[in-house]
Amino acid sequence: MPQKIKTDSNANEQLKIPQHIAIIMDGNGRWAKKRGLPRKMGHSAGGEAFIKIVGDCNKLGVGYLTVFAFSTENWKRSSDEISSLVSLMHKYIVKHTPKLMELNISLRLLGDYSAFDALTVKALDESVEKLKHNTGMTLCIALNYGGRDDIVHAVNLLIKSGKTVVAEEDIASALYTSGIPDPELVIRTSGEERMSNFLLWQTAYSELYFTDVLWPDFDRKELIAALESYSGRIRRFGGV
Ligand code: FPP
Repeated sequence: MPQKIKTDSNANEQLKIPQHIAIIMDGNGRWAKKRGLPRKMGHSAGGEAFIKIVGDCNKLGVGYLTVFAFSTENWKRSSDEISSLVSLMHKYIVKHTPKLMELNISLRLLGDYSAFDALTVKALDESVEKLKHNTGMTLCIALNYGGRDDIVHAVNLLIKSGKTVVAEEDIASALYTSGIPDPELVIRTSGEERMSNFLLWQTAYSELYFTDVLWPDFDRKELIAALESYSGRIRRFGGV
């Protein structure tokens, strides 16, 4: 059963809190452009928004928060932008691991992040290791992640294990998200309304919420608006 809580804005309003929220954090570049700033400043502002939303989701009692930080398609960007994004992620993970520890948050990485530089991979692995016994919210960061790649990777694991016929459960348990419940709610910022190769298998029945707000401006108030929208939806899963 989804947990229900009272919001700050309306004490009588009951919010349903999904067990798993997934977010496509889009619009960093446009946020920077509007201010005449380089794109990397948009990503830095996006990093700040990300950290605050992690804290907000944790306080609200969300079980799993998944963010799309770097897609398999992001390699098409300039080498300058790629290296600033990767170094930002490296910096954030090192800086915020103690805070995640304090909040009892564990970390899962989705995708083939071994494609990043050795020091970043080491920092990511160390953070996962440090946080692995935490029992509160699980933060999942999708890094060099693509939904199609996730499925292909899973099928190859199953073939290697000797399987010749597979069931849905086999695929689900070989995905990067193995053991994690499917997200009930997907949020995408910046006015774009598509999945862009994010969690394709896992979002078969997810509720989708789109907002024009650019990711660096997405805050607790915007999160509550998304949860209010989600709370009013009836999920039938193909039934009546
Ligand atoms: C999309 O905006 C955003 C990304 C490709 C990267 C998301 C990364 C962060 C929010 C940085 C921090 C993340 C972590 C996990 C520390 P865009 O560049 O596509 O924006 P645009 O569509 O306006 O150009």
